[in-house]
Amino acid sequence: MTNFSAVILAAGSGTRMKSEIPKVLHKLSGKTLLKWVIDSVSKLKPDNIVIVLGHKAALVEKSLANLNVKIVYQREQKGSAHALLQAKSALTNYKGNILVISGDVPLIRSSTISSLLKSGIKNGNCATVLSTIVNEPFGYGRIVKNGLNFEAIIEEKDASKEQKNIKEINSGIYCFDSGIWEILSKIKPNNVKKEYYVTDSIAILKSEGKSVGLYKTDDSSEVKGINNRKELAEAESILQDRKIQELFAQGVSFIDPKSVYISADAQIGQDTIIYPRAYIANNVKIGKNCTIEGDSYIADSKIADDVFISYSYVRGAVIEKGCHIGPFSHIRPESHLKEGVKVGNFSEIKKSVIKKGAKVNHLSYIGDANIGEAVNIGAGTITCNFDGFKKHKTEIGDNVFVGSNVNLVAPIKVGKNVLIAAGSTITHDIAPHQLAIARAKQQHLSKEVLKTFKK
Ligand code: UD1
Ligand code: CA
Repeated sequence: MTNFSAVILAAGSGTRMKSEIPKVLHKLSGKTLLKWVIDSVSKLKPDNIVIVLGHKAALVEKSLANLNVKIVYQREQKGSAHALLQAKSALTNYKGNILVISGDVPLIRSSTISSLLKSGIKNGNCATVLSTIVNEPFGYGRIVKNGLNFEAIIEEKDASKEQKNIKEINSGIYCFDSGIWEILSKIKPNNVKKEYYVTDSIAILKSEGKSVGLYKTDDSSEVKGINNRKELAEAESILQDRKIQELFAQGVSFIDPKSVYISADAQIGQDTIIYPRAYIANNVKIGKNCTIEGDSYIADSKIADDVFISYSYVRGAVIEKGCHIGPFSHIRPESHLKEGVKVGNFSEIKKSVIKKGAKVNHLSYIGDANIGEAVNIGAGTITCNFDGFKKHKTEIGDNVFVGSNVNLVAPIKVGKNVLIAAGSTITHDIAPHQLAIARAKQQHLSKEVLKTFKK
């Protein structure tokens, strides 16, 4: 592909979002609108990416740290043409094509941008506009033609009744040649909003006898502009649809795809079945052959093959092959469940390593612990990891059997093959192979004793 540079317009205030947060920093599937556009453009390896910032520029700029982009500022928001003009200084002497794209069209695919650029270059156009047909064109600039000839773009507010019926709309994505800077200086704010519209460049080019063109895409969902909360939610639902289709094609099953939420960056292996109402948030990798049952929430986690998770909350964890979690458990950040670990119902695991085949089956809290292989943690067992000031570690060796309702007062070390009797409160380290019991002795007294108790 021929060289090009991209200019992303993101200085607008986004009034229609009714938000303190700049529009382009609103998120879709956990990623800002602007980052969606940058990622889509970056895949085509442009020579430069110039981003025009204005409204709350400092905030937006912060979100771009470490990205290979040039930033320019539009101090006053006088319209999209004025915004584009601010990028001129960053592209002086640049002779390649210039892709202009709004920061609020996050669903655009790289392949469509690439087709637009190719079409513009092939036809030797000074300007090529990506257009599409929509059923409800309200709010978009309309593509006005004279016969088959593309003449102008007319904004909603400036359109006549007749023009408002036009269903072919401007996507806000353009390919210009390097002559665009000269054209921009000729644009006047002769419209209802008194703004400098980049869309007016078409009529100007036409009047100068220069060639302009359209590249029409069939998938109108890609060019959806996000101006308000409703459109943001609609875009999210389009992304969901795309993601589910992609996963179906990779051999993942959804019993009720409409009821789940799957982040766009999720990776899910073949033959995994996702039951209704699961929520897979950002940065999750799930292996093959897993089962994720209803109302489970999984974020920032790596889950291997053959894992079963039911009605549980998992965040920031590594879950190895064949683990079983839930129903109703909470696996918190920095937890690592090794192969075949079973965490049953109503248990909480925090910042702990649980080794191969260990079980924490019922109503336990395991925090800041290192649990050995094949350990059995009895029902209701608690690691008392916090003394009110500091967190302390619990270390339990392989093959330890912890009876029910045991308190392990950390810091504490339990050697391998130990058996801890139910109801014990363990405050001293236990050497390997011991039986530890630490509870008050049971007594049997005559019921008459009760009468001696005063109220
Ligand atoms: C724009 C197009 C419209 C098109 C639609 C597609 C214009 C005049 N109209 O309308 O034809 O159908 O996009 O979604 O361009 N911006 C600035 N500085 C400004 C004004 C705007 O940087 O002073 C940026 C915005 O941040 C945004 C982009 O330009 O990314 C478009 O502005 P917006 O106000 O969203 O234009 P629309 O009314 O959606
Ligand atoms: Ca817009």
